[in-house]
Amino acid sequence: MLVLGIETSCDETAAALVADGVTVRANVIGSQIERHRPFGGVVPEIAARAHVDLLLPTLDRALVEAGATYTDVDAIAVTAGPGLIGSLLVGVAAAKALALAHDIPMIGVNHLEGHVCAAQLEFGLLEPPLVALIVSGGHTSLVLGDHVGRLTTLGATLDDAAGEAFDKIGRFVGLPYPGGPEIDRLAQGGDPAAVSFPRALLHDGSYDFSLSGLKTAVIRELRRRQAVGEDIPLADIAASFQEALVEVAVRKTVAAAQEHDVGQVLLAGGVAANTRLRARMGEACADAGLRFLVPTPSLCTDNGAMIAAAGWNRLVKGERSPLDLAADPSLSLQGWTMP
Ligand code: KG4
Ligand code: ZN
Repeated sequence: MLVLGIETSCDETAAALVADGVTVRANVIGSQIERHRPFGGVVPEIAARAHVDLLLPTLDRALVEAGATYTDVDAIAVTAGPGLIGSLLVGVAAAKALALAHDIPMIGVNHLEGHVCAAQLEFGLLEPPLVALIVSGGHTSLVLGDHVGRLTTLGATLDDAAGEAFDKIGRFVGLPYPGGPEIDRLAQGGDPAAVSFPRALLHDGSYDFSLSGLKTAVIRELRRRQAVGEDIPLADIAASFQEALVEVAVRKTVAAAQEHDVGQVLLAGGVAANTRLRARMGEACADAGLRFLVPTPSLCTDNGAMIAAAGWNRLVKGERSPLDLAADPSLSLQGWTMP
């Protein structure tokens, strides 16, 4: 079964074709990053308008790359939420129009479900149960896929997302947007123990995160050093900030896997590209006897193939969405999804 996946929940206009839930035939991103860069972050109105410009050419490119036409497409999967409402609406409206025009079934999927299912494109269909940490510019969520494959959110950030914290600190020190990869690079030459930044909610027993205090502490430390004319070892600050974030993320993820008696941990989202997070999570999983899965970065960041994979998992169970499917900016996880 060939599924067309459409993802427009934030600032990537993405379309992909995936065969049988696991084989990527095309995975195309119409990047908007240059349109948002002057503003140092994603501007929702610009994102929605850019999706309108970019979606049809992106769909065309995906079909050409896959050597397919709409007659070869068996179903359309589209992100129905969570995300920016203006952005979601463009993808959902396009999916409905294509489904109606070509008489193809359509399925709406949850964006976080897509991040979890991206792993099947690299590692094959996953066997539940698992715990997934999804860390991106818009999300920081710990998700459980239980032994019968139901996805539920165990915890999430109460304020800033992990990527948002990286990007805001990056912007403060004048790094180009997005700051995450730049801070990662800087931190590689720094001392992670140079400054002890707060590790919020580390011992509260919850699976929630709070990152705005950490971001503020880093900015305050930079300002303090600036005010007293002290040298600012940016590499040390970057490494210390990253260490605080990574320690909380790794501890909570491993604790969740142990509490729920799960043998595998999955890392996803743009921040999954972070060198320190991947290394520390890998070590912690090895120590705890957990299988650690982290897909290649192009499958970790927002893409259409992960939506097609998640859609396929639902379609093979006979699920379909009606043509009045609503885009929901705060859609919660429900049901499963690993087949
Ligand atoms: O998943 P993604 O492409 O888009 C969404 O936000 O949905 O994630 C982008 C985020 C940005 O905040 C970016 O700074 C962050 O992922 N990021 C990183 C790294 N690479 C990307 N953060 C830390 N270290 C990295 N190597
Ligand atoms: Zn995402």
